[in-house]
Amino acid sequence: MLDRAKGLLRPSSRSAVPPFIVMDVMAAAARLEAQGRRIVHMEVGQPAAAAPSSAIAAARAALSSGPLGYTETLGIPSLRRRIARWYRDWHELDVDPQRIVVTTGSSGGFVLAFLAAFEAGDRVAIAVPGYPPYRHILTALGCEAVGIECTVQSGWAMGVEALLREHRRRPLKGVIIASPANPTGTMMSAEALADLIRCAEDAGITVISDEIYHGLDYAHPALSAARISPDAVIVNSFSKYFCMTGWRIGWLVVPPALVRAVERLQQNLAISVPTLSQIAAEAAFDGREELEEIKRGYQDNRRVLLEGLPRAGLGSYLPPDGAFYLYADVSRFSTDSLAFASRMLEEAGVAVTPGIDFDPLHGKNFIRLCYAGSQADMAEAVARIGAWLKG
Ligand SMILES: Cc1ncc(COP(=O)(O)O)c(C=O)c1O
Repeated sequence: MLDRAKGLLRPSSRSAVPPFIVMDVMAAAARLEAQGRRIVHMEVGQPAAAAPSSAIAAARAALSSGPLGYTETLGIPSLRRRIARWYRDWHELDVDPQRIVVTTGSSGGFVLAFLAAFEAGDRVAIAVPGYPPYRHILTALGCEAVGIECTVQSGWAMGVEALLREHRRRPLKGVIIASPANPTGTMMSAEALADLIRCAEDAGITVISDEIYHGLDYAHPALSAARISPDAVIVNSFSKYFCMTGWRIGWLVVPPALVRAVERLQQNLAISVPTLSQIAAEAAFDGREELEEIKRGYQDNRRVLLEGLPRAGLGSYLPPDGAFYLYADVSRFSTDSLAFASRMLEEAGVAVTPGIDFDPLHGKNFIRLCYAGSQADMAEAVARIGAWLKG
């Protein structure tokens, strides 16, 4: 009986996706902190700041004003309209609120977008290095994630030629793009991004644009793929610019032909997105001043790292254009970034993410540092890393 139960409880093969290593680093850092060690956190990509006060006030008011029931599956209509207004204000673009779908973070948005746009077996291109869950979610859904290698020489951007070469080799159904990108923090120029989107679509490749770091652009304003094509699927989130990671709320802009499919999927997968988070998210748009102040803090942190890291011995990286990441080549010290990051955590008390999380091949030479913490943390990290590398 026991043996039979064991057999029944075996995990499915499609659930055998690799771990998201950054979460393992976070757990190791927490273990050291529980022993009384002081750790500077530069591993997880999340703002140290709380949600804007307008969002918190709206949530408080909602909690005391009555029951929080389900909402419409596609999201509270006033929130969908408010998101559409954001496209008008920020991107000078009219987006029909009917095309906007509120989701449980962009993570929930990916599942809906991939299920609605792709069949099992479809090949979908992703940039390498890139955000690991793209590959892992696609794999769990039965799609094939096809890595397109990006290089420091091309600013870590996905090249049109490399994408089309892969498409000629075996047809691709989709491509995921992100600018600013994680883990590199680099951005594509508006012209390069527009060119990539147009060439992909001309070749029949559906574009999924992850715009979660929009708003956190320092080099030049980020261009939404929605400006280039009504057929691109846009994924966005309140997690980063809006400082609402734990509220688990984001949104999609989907082509009209996919709206009903996404609605049916979300009806069955989630019914609706947490109501409290939707109410808070709508009010978060009124927190612009606070959010811009936080963004200025990231820019100051970026400056502290760009000035301090080369002196500390870590000088090999492209200056990030956006988001809050810096992707440093550490091959001078180690070609095993997992071991290097573990030692940095143990010996210097600085938690960073090994590059193998983002690039199974060359990531062994890189680490990612997140600079969304305080300026004091950044200065402390630079001092600790410097003393460690020299010691
Ligand atoms: C590039 C990118 N996309 C998506 C996400 C998922 O974020 P969320 O589900 O909180 O919106 C992250 C989180 O770090 C990310 O870096």
